[in-house]
Amino acid sequence: MGFSSETPVGSEVKVVIEHAPVKITTLVDGVEAVVFNANGAFEFERRKTKSEEDAPPPEPSPETFNSHTDSRPNGPMALSFDITFPDASHAYGLPERATTMSLRETKAADGAIATEPYRLYNLDVFEYEHDSPFGLYGSIPMLLGHSSRPPRVHGVYFNNPTELYVDVTKGGSSGGISSHWMAESGAFDLFIFPGPSPRETMRQYSMITGGTAMPPAFALGYHQCRWNYRDEADVAAVDAGFDEHDIPYDVLWLDIEHTDGKRYMTWDGATFPTPRRMIEDVASRGRKMVTIVDPHVKKDANYPVYKEAESKGLFVKQKDGVGDFDGWCWPGSSAYLDVTSPAVRAWWADKFSLKNYQGSTKDLYIWNDMNEPSVFNGPEITMQKDLIHHGNVEHREVHNAFGMYYHAATAAGIEKRNDGERPFVLSRAFFAGTQRVGPIWTGDNAADWNHLRVSLPMVLTLGATGLAFSGADVGGFFGNPDGELMTRWYQTGIYYPFFRGHAHLDTKRREPWLFGEPYTALIRAAIRRRYQLMPYLYTLFEEAHRDGAPVMRPLWYEFPNDPHAAAKEDAFMLGPALLVHPVTTQGASSVEVYLPAGVWYDYDTNEMHAGPKTFSVAVTLADTPTFVRGGHVIVRKDRARRSTRAMTHDPFTIVVAPDESGKYAYGEVYLDDGKSYAFEEKDAFSRRQIIFEDGDSLVCAAKWRGGSWGWTTHDAEQKHLEGDPLAFPEIAAEVERVIVLGPRRFGEDAEVRNKRKEIHLVSASGKEGSPAAATAVKKPGVVLAQDWSILFSVAD
Ligand code: GLC
Repeated sequence: MGFSSETPVGSEVKVVIEHAPVKITTLVDGVEAVVFNANGAFEFERRKTKSEEDAPPPEPSPETFNSHTDSRPNGPMALSFDITFPDASHAYGLPERATTMSLRETKAADGAIATEPYRLYNLDVFEYEHDSPFGLYGSIPMLLGHSSRPPRVHGVYFNNPTELYVDVTKGGSSGGISSHWMAESGAFDLFIFPGPSPRETMRQYSMITGGTAMPPAFALGYHQCRWNYRDEADVAAVDAGFDEHDIPYDVLWLDIEHTDGKRYMTWDGATFPTPRRMIEDVASRGRKMVTIVDPHVKKDANYPVYKEAESKGLFVKQKDGVGDFDGWCWPGSSAYLDVTSPAVRAWWADKFSLKNYQGSTKDLYIWNDMNEPSVFNGPEITMQKDLIHHGNVEHREVHNAFGMYYHAATAAGIEKRNDGERPFVLSRAFFAGTQRVGPIWTGDNAADWNHLRVSLPMVLTLGATGLAFSGADVGGFFGNPDGELMTRWYQTGIYYPFFRGHAHLDTKRREPWLFGEPYTALIRAAIRRRYQLMPYLYTLFEEAHRDGAPVMRPLWYEFPNDPHAAAKEDAFMLGPALLVHPVTTQGASSVEVYLPAGVWYDYDTNEMHAGPKTFSVAVTLADTPTFVRGGHVIVRKDRARRSTRAMTHDPFTIVVAPDESGKYAYGEVYLDDGKSYAFEEKDAFSRRQIIFEDGDSLVCAAKWRGGSWGWTTHDAEQKHLEGDPLAFPEIAAEVERVIVLGPRRFGEDAEVRNKRKEIHLVSASGKEGSPAAATAVKKPGVVLAQDWSILFSVAD
């Protein structure tokens, strides 16, 4: 069991250990936060003594599931324990499942069963329901307990990739929330995170399992996918369609049909005869492509991947540990790479070299699907638990981590191929730590309103358990969305950290322009908003990388002291500064919006609101109620472009949203080259603080490591300026507009002082936005990545 040593200043963490029976109590500021074994459920199979190990093997205890028998050669190996959060009223975590964010109890305090326990066992679930506790494609054994009064969040992480069941009970004898964990096998390896703020809890968790891999900038753009784009002409037409309709996008995806008979890393010669030319053509407009590569390998002696892996013995073995396991998947009879072996992962990574992956280029990235692993003829559509992996380890011991190993090996291959630049690989299966590898998506949802709604708690729960980079298929995978659902899904999906449209083979085509007006215009406007927010979004990803913070955040993350926000899942925060309440019901003419305490500004009208309040907002199909939080600064890029790359040199717009006093706002922006690790290896990045103070001055300065700010760049978090070989294009990009929200009127002139301390006057006009006003300063003539200040003259 491990305890994270980092606690916020001012909080005292104490651990009390009692014996016989064991009980471990973590106290934060004198209050019981997390208790291990309060209910005495700690049970485990005893470790065998040496003489027992030398004795004949234990009695197998076979178990049968449908037509499959699990030989269980080692007999029972289970362990269980309980964790209580005595002061919590909400529990979150334990993804992945399509259910509420605030977890419902599975068992009442009197032992009555409310529903099945939360199961963590990675499975390919066909047509999953929109409201079910059933576990899906990925697992993160992390549970959080939250109380609003006083505001505290604590967490536990159980580092065990075997099949798990967790019962959650509310208000038992020990009060708060208790949980009962049962693992099929594996070690007892439990981490407790005292928090007590949501941010500290996530930071402590990320110290154990890692932060989010810094994605390449293009990965935050819009991704267009379907099963399947038919051929090279289809690819060219879809790519051109985006330009014809002035809709930005970054990546075009190819599903399994592009291959020669589902032999991954090959091409169907009839439909994709010149793949390299096709990718180069898409890349010539600054975009990328993705192909799917799944972990099952078609058993075909003429397929080089199979032949080589077979002869080198790289596949998962039958339970006898000798013959290769044979399972059924898309290509028919298949073998499965044993990616739990480091040698197999290294071999696999090399398959992505330009030499090995014929027809690929450095602009081609990868999608890993079916890596739970999915085995069509296996028990519950996955592998038998007694199959044998590297080191004579049974599949049951590694099941939930299998997909992550495969994902990591693929990402390592892409990183190597691109000479150490940041890879991009999407996965369906995941485990704790997947955030260090790449994004995941929520699998095969459906084109209905319920699935749109449940995508929010699903993505929010992933973010609250360290997996910040995720999203749901926009439009819904199965079925055909109408124009209204499609529009609403885009208006919501632009806020998913991973933003991709995707559809099943049997669905009607649904590229954004196929719905006709008014839908196409509304989808265009939504996607453009995503691109407008790119500097803010990129800054949030850097925070996720450094600190483990979610990008799309539950309201409780920002407002842990607000009981009304604790279970809210129809609205969310994008970072600290934007509250979004998407419209997720058909035919809606209004939505009930809740704004927590503070001042808020309507993103579209600048209208000011004072929270906390619940109020009805009238909506047309064009509207998604979105609010900027007072006290914050957001950096945008407002020019509509074709892709993220086309925006590189564009100037910035800074939106200042003063707090209740009207006198203060704070924000940060992070810039780097968007593709390499120079930010980590050579400090080639810029992190700026933008501070609005005293109601009349706006200062932008490089952030100092100590957290303060100032005029000199000495020891600041920016070393490389324009002209430096390590600098990147955005170092030179100007600020084209500063907007100060709120009713405050300023004089007509604003005084700008740039890095060289030269002073000049620019006009500040007071009529920006309607119906509520804001003040705009146009063309202040400063470069964002240099120090500058603007002094407004105060008129009132
Ligand atoms: C799985 C994936 C889906 C993909 C299909 C074909 O169902 O979840 O996204 O389109 O396989 O590869």
